[in-house]
Amino acid sequence: MDLKQRINSDKLPCHVAIIMDGNGRWAKQQGKERVFGHEGGVESVRDTVKAAAEIGIQHLTLFAFSTENWCRPHKEVNTLMGLLTKAIDSETLELHKNNVRLQAIGDIDALPSSCRKQLSEAIELTSGNTGLTVNIALSYSSRWEITNATRKIARKVAEKRLDPEDIDQELVDQAMETARIPDPDLLIRTSGELRISNFLLWQLAYTELYFTPVLWPDFRKKHFFQAIVDYQRRERRFGKVECHADDVKQA
Ligand code: FPP
Repeated sequence: MDLKQRINSDKLPCHVAIIMDGNGRWAKQQGKERVFGHEGGVESVRDTVKAAAEIGIQHLTLFAFSTENWCRPHKEVNTLMGLLTKAIDSETLELHKNNVRLQAIGDIDALPSSCRKQLSEAIELTSGNTGLTVNIALSYSSRWEITNATRKIARKVAEKRLDPEDIDQELVDQAMETARIPDPDLLIRTSGELRISNFLLWQLAYTELYFTPVLWPDFRKKHFFQAIVDYQRRERRFGKVECHADDVKQA
C-alpha cells in the first residue's frame, strides 16, 4: 500500500510545523554555494504545501527565516529575502486557486520593504480562503515572541487595563504571534539535527517531534506522508493517562 493510503483521515494532525534545515549542507554536497540549497528548498516548500493540502491538514507552519539568521553573511541574507519575495510573488495565485490562506508570524517590520509588500498583498488576497492555512515564520524566534508577548501584557497592566491576577495561560497564548492558531500536533525537523532551535517553544509543549535525516531540498511529499504515518502510530497522553487535545486547552 502506498504511504498516502496508509494515512487515517480521522486521525490527522490539525497543525504541522516544520523546521526546514539542511539547505547549506545539501548545496555543499553538490559542490555549490549555500544559496543553491535555498533555491532547491523552494521546490520542497511547494511539494510540502501540496501534500498538506491534499490530505486535509488545516495549518502548516514553516520556519523560513529566524531572528538569528540576520547574522548570516549579507549575500546569503539578501539572496534569501529575494528568494522569499520571488516565491511569494510566483506562488500566490496558485495558492489562492487552491483555497490556501497565507499568514505570517514574526517580526515582519524587520523585513525589506519589497518583501513586506509582497507578503501583505498575498495575505490580503488569500485572507478569505478556507482550506489549508500556511503560516510562514519570518524573522521569527520564540524568545523574541515570548518577550514581545510579555511586553504587551505588561503594558496592559501598567495602563491598569489588566489585573495581574487575571493573567492565565489563555491570555498568554493570545499574546503570542500564533494567537488563534491551535498548537502544533506534529513538528518535523529535517537534516538530522535533534534541536528545537528557538522555534515555537511555548506552543510545542505537547507536540509530537519527528526528526528525519533527509536534507530539506530533498524533502518531498512521500517524506511528509511518512511523518504523518509515524505520528498516527503514537499515543498522545498530554501528561495524563489517556485524554484528547481538547482537554489540555481547557485544563
Ligand atoms: C536552513 O538551512 C534553511 C533556511 C535558513 C532557509 C529556508 C528557506 C527556504 C527553503 C526558502 C523558501 C521558503 C519559502 C517559505 C518560500 P541551512 O542554511 O541552515 O542549512 P545548513 O544547516 O545545512 O547550513
